[in-house]
Amino acid sequence: MDRKEFLSLLGLTVGGGVAISCLGGCTKEDGATPGGNTGGSGGGSLDFTLDLNAAENAVLNNNGGFLVKNGVIVARTTGGVYIAVAAACTHQGTIIQYQGNNSRFFCPNHGSTFSESGSVLNGPASSDLKQYKTELSGKNLRVFA
Ligand code: FES
Repeated sequence: MDRKEFLSLLGLTVGGGVAISCLGGCTKEDGATPGGNTGGSGGGSLDFTLDLNAAENAVLNNNGGFLVKNGVIVARTTGGVYIAVAAACTHQGTIIQYQGNNSRFFCPNHGSTFSESGSVLNGPASSDLKQYKTELSGKNLRVFA
C-alpha cells in the first residue's frame, strides 16, 4: 500500500495535512476579537463600564481627570462632560494624555494634539483618533463604540 492509498483509507487526502494537525487538541480562543482591546482604531464591539465609586476610577470624579482603560482614554472635561477616544496616538502609537485646561489630547512623544472629539489639531499625526460614546448612569460610566 502506498501513501495515497493509506490516506485514502483514513478518509484523508494528501492535502488534508492541515486538518489532521489539529486532531491532537487545538483549541479555539472564543473571546478573541482582533483589534478589540489593543488601542488601535478598530474595536467596533468595545463596550465597558467604569464604576466611579471605585478607587481606581476616582480620578474621573474630578474635572480634568483622565485614565486609560482597554485602549481608550476616558476623560472628564473642565465642564464636567465625559469624553473618550482611542488612547494610542495615530502617529506611532504612544499613549496620549488629556490636557483639560487646553481642552485637548496631547501625545508626549512627538507633540501631536487632538481635539476632545479626537480630530487632529497638530501633527505629525495625520489621522484622527477614534471617538467612543459615554453614558453616565448613577456612578456607572459606560464607554462604548
Ligand atoms: S507617537 Fe504621537 S506624535 Fe508621534
